Amino acid sequence: MCGIIGCCSNHNVLHNTIDGLKKLEYRGYDSCGITFLLNKEFHTFKSIKRIEDLTRNITVDGGLAVAHTRWATHGKVSLDNAHPIYSTDKKYIIVHNGIIENYLKIKETYLKEYIFYTETDTEIIINLIDYLNKKYSMLDSIKRLYEILEGTFACLILDKNEDKIYFIKNKSPLILGLSNELIVTSDILALPKNTRKYYRLKDGDYGYITKDTYNLFNINDQNHFLFLDYYPLNYDVSLKGFKHYMEKEIYEIPDLLHNYLNKKYESRIINALKNSNKIYLVASGTSFHAASLGALFFSQISKKESYAFVSSEFQIDNTYDEKAIFIVISQSGETADLIKAISKIKKKNYEVIAICNVENSTIKEMSDYFININAGVEIAVASTKSYTLSSLVLYQLSNIIINNLYIEKLAYVINNISNVFDIKDRIQKISSYISNKEHLYYLGKGIDYLLCNEASLKLKEISYIHSESFPAGELKHGSIALISSSSIVIGIITDPLNASLIRSSLEEVKSRGATVFVISLNSLSLDNDTIIINDCDKYLSFISISIILQLLAYYTALNLGNDIDKPRNLAKSVTVE
Ligand code: AGP
Repeated sequence: MCGIIGCCSNHNVLHNTIDGLKKLEYRGYDSCGITFLLNKEFHTFKSIKRIEDLTRNITVDGGLAVAHTRWATHGKVSLDNAHPIYSTDKKYIIVHNGIIENYLKIKETYLKEYIFYTETDTEIIINLIDYLNKKYSMLDSIKRLYEILEGTFACLILDKNEDKIYFIKNKSPLILGLSNELIVTSDILALPKNTRKYYRLKDGDYGYITKDTYNLFNINDQNHFLFLDYYPLNYDVSLKGFKHYMEKEIYEIPDLLHNYLNKKYESRIINALKNSNKIYLVASGTSFHAASLGALFFSQISKKESYAFVSSEFQIDNTYDEKAIFIVISQSGETADLIKAISKIKKKNYEVIAICNVENSTIKEMSDYFININAGVEIAVASTKSYTLSSLVLYQLSNIIINNLYIEKLAYVINNISNVFDIKDRIQKISSYISNKEHLYYLGKGIDYLLCNEASLKLKEISYIHSESFPAGELKHGSIALISSSSIVIGIITDPLNASLIRSSLEEVKSRGATVFVISLNSLSLDNDTIIINDCDKYLSFISISIILQLLAYYTALNLGNDIDKPRNLAKSVTVE
């Protein structure tokens, strides 16, 4: 979602600021802007198109700039609503990520005299700064925001009379990067390659950077700045010859899987799971689909009662058993809906295990236990490798807690996984067929239905083809009314227990004229099946099937010429509820 970067240096910062802004593009945005502070004057440029368009219009350069990519929440996509946003008297400027919940009340209480030019909640913050700064120093005014604002906010604020970038953070990520220049950004990916180290700001942190130094404070801890954890910057975001990050990230899966063969999990995590009598999993989107697989693994493999919940629908009540434990799953570690769910869980004192791809994330900080899936940075908005690896972690945990021997079965699948990439032409064949269609249905049962759910989400995210996934047995209860001679149905068959029911449902749609493609396990296959994968343990078929279905979505979007890594309206890290 929205992205922030601010740079302060003895040299011109246009290059690094715009470069950082481009690296924030993957998060999703619909407008962007930048402000330079030069000789006590603001110079602001905005665009409701892409960053290239913004860059073309910039006519200045200098040593201090703040920039932003906006994903509209309060107010439509417009130049006025794009950040940076001025205070009424144009003395201050702000870029902001997050949502201010009590902005109308603040307007009513403090800002009756102010004129507002945007529809944003952000304009409230910058006018509040103007209001407070009449009584307090700039730093104290920033600090006082914590007393007044309710909601999430990561902000950079400029006073045109000071060569400083003030910052403040609450429940929205912000990072301080130290290199030849000082940088504050919402995402480590936006930091220049030569960044020596970075510090991930904590809630309650505020302060400022100048060209040469930084000053950091925390509302709760006066000595906080003495004990900062700095991290070295080490990530690789090159495309390595692939056309898109999504393709590259799918091709990374086999190597990543190999790291899992001898994966050890902390004994305290295993014990916590063993000692629980119920396991609840909470997540959003693709991570929720991994959670659903997890619930199936814990129920069927470990024989523990287990359920998966969508974070945005999650409510906690007193019916949860005392010995229940929660597992939360998130690629980004910053998903607002999940953060809210964790707060509810923690209020009731349940323990939380986080499965996540970001070491220094809010979700890790909020949880009692942390498992890093170590998938490496995932840039494409459509999550691929994170889904496969999170699901694998859940599969392993469900076996480990009952001392099940699974390594041989897993090794077999992992050692043969490259076969999946050898059938690329067959996947492409299906994708050519479906690319010009408007609707598509996935059909499965049990674990295959759960795989269909993710396949369907992946396809709609990047191809914009309307796609739905149905449990095979449920079709006859209504959805079969949709089927006609123009319908396409993809059936997934990997579980011997459910194969015949899925076959019957596929016959039913075929007899109503639908074109059917089948992806099946060798021992369950029929001659005309489109893709047949090697036999494996039924709980491990998700590895090959997920890769095939990710590639199917990818090739379909490629045929359509879509912006695959940055699909319309979507954001990589969904930091608003
Ligand atoms: C994945 O392809 C999606 N972009 C989306 O559903 C995502 O999985 C969801 O927003 C949750 O994100 P998280 O894993 O970072 O918490």
